[in-house]
Amino acid sequence: MSDIKLSNVSKTFGIVSVIDDLTLTVKSGEFLVLLGPSGSGKTTILRMIAGLETIDKGTLEIGGQRCESLPPGQRQVAMVFQNYALYPHMSVSGNMAFGLENIGLGKAEIAARIAAAAKLLEMTSLLERYPAQLSGGQRQRVAIGRAIVKQPKAFLFDEPLSNLDAALRVRTRVELAQLHQRLQSTVVYVTHDQTEAMTLADRVVVLNSRHVEQIGTPMEIYHRPATRFVASFVGSPAMNFIQVKTKLNGKKIGIVAPSGKWITLPNASLGKGDVELGIRPESISIVDRDADATGQVKIIERLGERTLLHVQLDKGPLIIVQDSGLSKLNINSPVKLKFNVSQISLFGPDGKSSLRSAAS
Ligand SMILES: Nc1ncnc2c1ncn2[C@@H]1O[C@H](COP(=O)(O)OP(=O)(O)O)[C@@H](O)[C@H]1O
Ligand SMILES: [Mg+2]
Repeated sequence: MSDIKLSNVSKTFGIVSVIDDLTLTVKSGEFLVLLGPSGSGKTTILRMIAGLETIDKGTLEIGGQRCESLPPGQRQVAMVFQNYALYPHMSVSGNMAFGLENIGLGKAEIAARIAAAAKLLEMTSLLERYPAQLSGGQRQRVAIGRAIVKQPKAFLFDEPLSNLDAALRVRTRVELAQLHQRLQSTVVYVTHDQTEAMTLADRVVVLNSRHVEQIGTPMEIYHRPATRFVASFVGSPAMNFIQVKTKLNGKKIGIVAPSGKWITLPNASLGKGDVELGIRPESISIVDRDADATGQVKIIERLGERTLLHVQLDKGPLIIVQDSGLSKLNINSPVKLKFNVSQISLFGPDGKSSLRSAAS
């Protein structure tokens, strides 16, 4: 068992509160991603789990054992840092052996663990090299190898791909996913990159200054954002937001689209007044009639497999609409737009979603 439980954890640096009453369980074997903007407290949470930072209030359990007072070496977690933190004067195998010698493992056991990890990461031929003789991607592999040989209860990754170039980042991301499939270990992975979060996570925790905005599977976070912050942070290009009025007609409830058309939304719990309609570029289609909004194309971004149209609505803001890669539209083309009702999000003045879950 290697689940991680944070209960009512708070942390302040001086008088600045960084984490406020965080309760979070990472299930055994789960790949959990902490996603949030820079400064939202992601690294601090990892460091508290690792024991590199004290926990001011609250409790931490790792594999059923209370840990908040244990020194880092006794928590049986391994952290991989953004900057790799390799010892430059030690070879790759020296770097991997270092932590193991410190805990008094025998030479044969250390050699066996290093050989197994090197094989897993396909870096057997690099074992005698020094960090300066390695590429960024190879150094990252060594840092991961150093974590693997510890045979920890859980891996803690702090933005491990951010120092790699774009192509290598994509490749290493896939390798990390494969590694997790093979090892089935508990992982807490910190990133500000929503693509990494979406592709790697079993569950994503979206953080925003000191607090959790939403915890859910990547698909829940993407399709049913609980708050406007989540909706705007996840997805590229971002979700469009349009101010609309609610309309109640007997028992039916809905909103007035920019075209004046009434859209019924049986799942919404709406009061009277203004709400923000959130809709992703791919959930808007170009139609001939029955439009929910009309506008004029102002900018065209051809990305190959799809085209992004920046459309100035006649009654509303500039929004982004996804069209096919072979879009025939031109600058200043008038367009009629239809919203995919099942993909609409609504946010009240408090920024919270006004949609009940599909089940209710
Ligand atoms: N040792 C420290 N002393 C004072 N403030 C810190 C310290 N470490 C982090 N902070 C502050 O805590 C906040 C969260 O930091 P961090 O956990 O590094 O965020 P993230 O990893 O999400 O970018 C930031 O405002 C940062 O300036
Ligand atoms: Mg950080």
